[in-house]
Amino acid sequence: MPALEKLVVTGGNKLVGEVTISGAKNAAVAVIPAAILVEGVCRIENIPAIKDVAIIIEMLEQLGAIVQYIDKNTVEIDCTKIHTYTAPYEMVIRMRASYYLVGALLGRFNRAKVAFPGGCDFGVRPIDQHIKGFEALGVKVQMKHGIIHAAADTLKATQVYMDVVSVGATINLILAAVKAKGTTIIENAAKEPHVVDLANFLNAMGANVKGAGTDVIKIRGVERLTGGTYSIIPDQIEAGTFMIAAAAAGGDVLIKNVIPKHLESVTAKLVEMKANVEEYDDAIRVSRTGKLVKANVKTIPYPGFPTDLQPLAAVLLCMAEGTSTITEGVWDSRFQYVDELKRMGAKIKVEGRMAVIEGVERLSGAPVKAVDLRGGAAMVIAGLVGEGITEIRDLSHIDRGYEYFEEKLAGIGADIRRI
Ligand code: EPU
Repeated sequence: MPALEKLVVTGGNKLVGEVTISGAKNAAVAVIPAAILVEGVCRIENIPAIKDVAIIIEMLEQLGAIVQYIDKNTVEIDCTKIHTYTAPYEMVIRMRASYYLVGALLGRFNRAKVAFPGGCDFGVRPIDQHIKGFEALGVKVQMKHGIIHAAADTLKATQVYMDVVSVGATINLILAAVKAKGTTIIENAAKEPHVVDLANFLNAMGANVKGAGTDVIKIRGVERLTGGTYSIIPDQIEAGTFMIAAAAAGGDVLIKNVIPKHLESVTAKLVEMKANVEEYDDAIRVSRTGKLVKANVKTIPYPGFPTDLQPLAAVLLCMAEGTSTITEGVWDSRFQYVDELKRMGAKIKVEGRMAVIEGVERLSGAPVKAVDLRGGAAMVIAGLVGEGITEIRDLSHIDRGYEYFEEKLAGIGADIRRI
């Protein structure tokens, strides 16, 4: 039974060889629902074969989309026959990104009825900025019995200043505004690579979105979007995970199919900690032979150090000489994995949004669990650098977001098995 599966990692191997990064989860889960806005067939390539993608595709099918897998990383989606703007609780509870259905259905039907989404637990996850954006477009939004009801006669272009930098709110507002009359301007927009990827996808289908990747995005509404082909960008966080794994375990790994620019904050931190990083056009090589030195990491929105690599960074800092700190600048509460890491001998003190990490000679293998997606990946990397055997349970979190994680790690020399 999948729920009883565990990963068994025997620590101590250096990582050597090449690994290829998959398509970006957080881009795919935005681009796929964006197909709702398109009349005709969208062919989407380089989608990662992970659970979150399978779930969002299933949601579209339940809404009436016709979906055909060409191969495991390519899908053709035709949303012409979508017949409803209602996404019930059972459909959306399995993942956070299901809130993109609100923006996409609003853009298509001027209305949406979507249950409040699920997702990893990082404390409070408000959607006030999404609602602020929709309301500015002239949408009436009500929350009733855990369901978001959004409706407008017509969507009117608007100018919105986001009070917090939010990936989800920025993407949702782009989705809703893409066919609204006039030019919508989003100020203080998120600049993450997946925001840019969504804009590029929409533009490839005939939209007019400018400025994605900066903090001002301008969306000139168009009458209709028509089908086409689009390829998802490589996953920044998966690439960062392998960069950190190589630096933590030592060895020499060439990480292929990456956009080095997306990883500048990670590269800079690894170099500061005395790992070696070489950048190529679409690959990054990370190696380490000497000791890692302490560092302070602060997570902030892109182009800052990504919060999604924060648990991985903690494992790396455990291996560094001296006392390091992590300041979580995005989520209220993202240190749930620390107790698991402590089972392996990590010396970490958490106070509010800060963790103080004292380097240890080695972590020691132990039974642990994946508390969430990135926390789970961090346990696997901790297992690679730990002495003896680490068993990681609750793998469903990891399977949500990493394609062939253990196969890729085994391919560069890790001793890892799923049983
Ligand atoms: N926020 C608000 N109001 C809102 C929306 C967000 O106050 O209306 C706050 C949040 O509470 C948080 C901050 O703004 O403190 C940033 O949240 P954001 O909306 O950017 O996060 P998200 O869109 O829900 C995406 C990723 C997360 C990643 C964050 C931050 C997807 C599907 N998820 O979430 O990825 O941590 O951006 O970069 O794109 C992961 O992949 O493991 C993951 C959790």
